[in-house]
Amino acid sequence: TILTLDFGSQYTHLITRRLRELNVYSEMLPCTQKLADLTWKPAGVILSGGPYSVYEDGAPHVDPAYFELGVPILGICYGMQEIAYRSNATNVIAGTAREYGHADLQAKKVDGFVDRLFEGLEGNMKVWMSHGDKLAKLPEDFHVIASTQNSEYAAIAHQTKDIYCLQFHPEVTHTINGVQLLKNFAVGICKAQQNWTMAKFVDQEIARIRTLVGETGQVLGAVSGGVDSTVAAKLMKEAIGDRFHAVLVNNGVMRLNECEQVQKTLTEHLGINLIVADASKLFLDGLKGITDPEQKRKFIGGTFIDVFEAEAKKIEDAAANSPKAGKINFFLQGTLYPDVIESISFKGPSATIKTHHNVGGLPKRMTEGQGLKLIEPLRELFKDEVRDLGRQLGIAHDLVMRHPFPGPGIAIRVLGEVTPERVEMARKADNIFISMIREAGLYDKIGQAFAALDPSRAVGVMGDKRVYENIVLLRAVETTDFMTCNPFPFEHEFLVRVSTRIVNEVQGVCRVAYDYTSKPPGTIELE
Ligand code: XMP
Repeated sequence: TILTLDFGSQYTHLITRRLRELNVYSEMLPCTQKLADLTWKPAGVILSGGPYSVYEDGAPHVDPAYFELGVPILGICYGMQEIAYRSNATNVIAGTAREYGHADLQAKKVDGFVDRLFEGLEGNMKVWMSHGDKLAKLPEDFHVIASTQNSEYAAIAHQTKDIYCLQFHPEVTHTINGVQLLKNFAVGICKAQQNWTMAKFVDQEIARIRTLVGETGQVLGAVSGGVDSTVAAKLMKEAIGDRFHAVLVNNGVMRLNECEQVQKTLTEHLGINLIVADASKLFLDGLKGITDPEQKRKFIGGTFIDVFEAEAKKIEDAAANSPKAGKINFFLQGTLYPDVIESISFKGPSATIKTHHNVGGLPKRMTEGQGLKLIEPLRELFKDEVRDLGRQLGIAHDLVMRHPFPGPGIAIRVLGEVTPERVEMARKADNIFISMIREAGLYDKIGQAFAALDPSRAVGVMGDKRVYENIVLLRAVETTDFMTCNPFPFEHEFLVRVSTRIVNEVQGVCRVAYDYTSKPPGTIELE
């Protein structure tokens, strides 16, 4: 195991992610972690980057005991400055200009060989720099192993000990071949084993959850049927069985038969202890007259919390009266790593909590007021890793590959006013579109697809009669991160067939259009 000490950089989790990709297990702990309190011996230690200046009052410093442990150490950016500063406080100064972006790195050859950290990386290497402070001089007993035009000390190493420092970030994809460099450190220098698998993550996470929750503690969580909340819920079920209580709120704007299907999957397929709160009337009544997209979001978000809070109260009361289990003490949230990127984790996990816009983001009054602590088993994972985890937990392929679906549901896909009739039209059109995508074998190639209902109407001729009816808008996008996207390039004939079926089968619709807008300038949803 490689120990990564986190000094609060945005990129620290990427270090552990890259090591996982190499099948090397890495545990990330706050930089304040004392060696004496560690129950295991790491094969190597990585000191991450961070937003501070080492010479400032209150800047975090590493426990010096790690340097006596006799295992290799790698300092990245702030980690490098920390190592240099320990050697001599005058080694680190504020740079005259921030260095941010690409740089060309050249590994230095001694007797025709590069340092083992750069094995296989002899040529010109593109690296990513992001720092303000820099080394003023080389720390005693160190030598330069790679430089860039602006940074003479881009990579340095101790002359006799296995201590390495990098001014750039090998963990970001902008550093081409950065993974090879991390491999050289972890596998080549630390001799860490490449035997980590998702199955091990499952075992470790289950053990961690059991310790955290305790023998009798209980956990509450909202589920939506989406990948993240389903995987998180299944992990809880494996860890603590029926002491995990899942709540599914039917907000009346879910897809066709979705509530029933999610209920069936979670209970029958995954064995999760589930309560369904049918609040569809409450939501649909409240949506009457609202046309502004942000107002729709606000109303749905607020009402969701009210309904969830009421359900939570009922479960808590029942738990309090149950002889075999204790109080509800945790709240499950399916937060993924991209949601917590801005965390400054050296202040401790409590400083990293933020409210999310997805299902399950609860106001502080609920967690703090009732003393519920957050449990976030996916917070170190990226979406593709969550899917892997889901497969590992035996969740069916279709569920693991499900497209994202927004919390406000079809309400933001019925453009303009939301009425039960219009929701029904959007639902039926969406169901036809998605099932035809599945039949054509295209579902897994598309990032997200749906049908929406335009607020205006158009004239058509059906059965020799003039009609004045609704317009369905189809949207399907290719995307990797949902921050940008391109329209999916369907074959013309396919869209014609979808259009024909929707007009024939969805009463009240006489036109179908396909949205060709990229993001930016568009967004994925239409509202
Ligand atoms: P946009 O429309 O911003 O969507 O390009 C990006 C991704 O976010 C989803 N989305 C939401 N998810 N609540 C959610 O839970 C929302 O209010 C919301 N708005 C957009 C959208 O479906 C896409 O996956």
